[in-house]
Amino acid sequence: MILVDGKKTSQDIKNEIAARVAEIKTEGGKTPHLAAILVGNDGASQTYVGAKVKACHEIGFESTLVRLEETVSEEELLKVVDDINQNPDIDGLIVQLPLPRHISVEKVTNKIKPEKDVDGFTPANVGRMTLNWPAYVAATPYGIVELLKRYEIETSGKHCVVIGRSHIVGSPMSILMARNGNPGNATVTLTHSRTQNLKEITKTADILIVAIGKPEFVTADMVKEGAVVIDVGIHRVEDSSKKSGFRLIGDVKFDEVSQKASAITPVPGGVGPMTIASLLYNTLQAAEKKIYQ
Ligand code: GUN
Repeated sequence: MILVDGKKTSQDIKNEIAARVAEIKTEGGKTPHLAAILVGNDGASQTYVGAKVKACHEIGFESTLVRLEETVSEEELLKVVDDINQNPDIDGLIVQLPLPRHISVEKVTNKIKPEKDVDGFTPANVGRMTLNWPAYVAATPYGIVELLKRYEIETSGKHCVVIGRSHIVGSPMSILMARNGNPGNATVTLTHSRTQNLKEITKTADILIVAIGKPEFVTADMVKEGAVVIDVGIHRVEDSSKKSGFRLIGDVKFDEVSQKASAITPVPGGVGPMTIASLLYNTLQAAEKKIYQ
């Protein structure tokens, strides 16, 4: 069984990006610059944004964090997005989700200039990805694609089953696995909460991508012998034996599924660390104008 190590792979990618940034600086070019907007005080969002800003500094990017009150109006937020859109020094912009309920995610997302949309959330980038044009691809699916590529996991002609149809993970993942490319060329089944006989379907998967958001949902009886299993879930469970009082588990029951899988991502240390590496890579591409020429 191959343990697909996202921690190591993400570090490799960060090293590659850092080397390119050093080169750009030596050539007298502009330092890549990521801006993040964080609205309110959600604990998880603060942690994620903090990790993104820290990663920028580790690899030599500039970063700007704009923090806004929970009570900020939609109009004010749209103005901040527009200011960043117009700022030539900033290459990439992310607006951390979720947003407070009085703000329309659609309006805010649609305001982000596609050329700076390094989260790959705008209709322009989702459409471009779907057409198999150059696009910013959302961080989690892009991270999974990169893991499959770097571990040389064959996807062509394989049956890939995706569990979960979210806009951020399941839906783009199904498109990327089906597209004519590498990784890609898989026969894809996208399953969700209304799917009947889920277990019968997952048992036929050569590649199983689980993004359902339910702790240890996938058990060994749902998995074919030799399958590749990618676990996108991340959940905290109480564990008094840990100093922190908790441990992290995924959407897959790792202990039993890893006995059957030919390759599997652990939690933590699998897909999670890849997301930040993808965001940094997208920002480098934005700075170098590789997607929109
Ligand atoms: N919230 C959860 N995941 C993400 C992400 O990838 N980007 C942004 N902007 N917000 C998120």
